[in-house]
Amino acid sequence: MDDDLIYSIRMRASAGNRHVSGAERIISPIKMDATVQALIVRAREKKTPPEKIVITIEHIGNMPISRLTALDVVTVNTPDMSTGRSAASRILQSLGISEKSIMAALNLLTNGAAPFGLNMRGAMIIDAVHGERLEPDHKRGIRASRFDWTEEALDTMTKRLAAIGLTHFRTHEALALATKVAHAPGIIAELCWSDDPDYTAGYVASRRTGYVRFPVLKLQDDPRGGRAFFVDRNTLDIEAFIHYLQFEPVLIVDGGTCRNRVDPEQYFTV
Ligand code: COA
Ligand code: AMP
Repeated sequence: MDDDLIYSIRMRASAGNRHVSGAERIISPIKMDATVQALIVRAREKKTPPEKIVITIEHIGNMPISRLTALDVVTVNTPDMSTGRSAASRILQSLGISEKSIMAALNLLTNGAAPFGLNMRGAMIIDAVHGERLEPDHKRGIRASRFDWTEEALDTMTKRLAAIGLTHFRTHEALALATKVAHAPGIIAELCWSDDPDYTAGYVASRRTGYVRFPVLKLQDDPRGGRAFFVDRNTLDIEAFIHYLQFEPVLIVDGGTCRNRVDPEQYFTV
């Protein structure tokens, strides 16, 4: 079955210099036409009509595909940005990330982590002790790519997420991305909130905690967002880390568990 899953199909839509949308799949050749069609539909459903849609179809070749189980999901019921960020910080600290490093990430994501307060095109890599940035290009960052769900795993996870009220396609896409990232060699945790002004939710993810979602990590209408990958720089092989994130194919073959609306105190006492 895996022998069939050999193409990476990626879509990015833009208007002028502005990124409008992006999505990707790993598929067998038989699904190619339908997948391309679905990605074009996807590119056109945003409010901003794309001026350019690029679809890349690439044979994965003989690169081995890692098969992962999706991270477990829990929503922590923090009512606003400040309680959300403070619970997120507490979780990051429990994973051994220093307060200095967490504050650095929060400030950068709040103010725009690219030069001139703009959003980056990918994620920051942040040293978990001193909070220094390690990604080679502060404007671009690193983008995780080459990941997808099997049909069965997506079906299982869509139902489990829906059972806890999470029906937005962003959730399963972000969960897939976070699952790949959490298995990167040398990662400790990821912190993310979207740059979509209408989407205030965000998460902390790691193999130890799973995908911990907060309904509000930024203010409504704020166009800034981003991702921070926290690492231990003493043990990190940064080239292997970046190569894994960008190029090594990952297929999510099983769903994790989903828990809804845990109160912060309950979360921290378990
Ligand atoms: N924001 C801004 N620009 C972006 C972008 C983003 N998120 N993604 C791509 N671009 C633009 C950049 O100009 C980029 O050039 P750069 O490498 O110098 O930054 C250019 O498109 C080419 O990007 P590349 O990643 O090489 O294109 P691709 O066709 O191989 O893959 C994506 C594009 C968007 C599919 C892939 O990068 C990606 O992000 N995949 C994950 C999608 C996903 O599921 N996200 C879930 C988030 S909730
Ligand atoms: P989104 O979740 O799509 O709203 O993206 C939020 C932020 O995450 C963007 O502004 C980028 O900084 C970053 N980002 C987007 N795509 C990726 C990716 N594939 N890998 C890592 N970071 C990304």
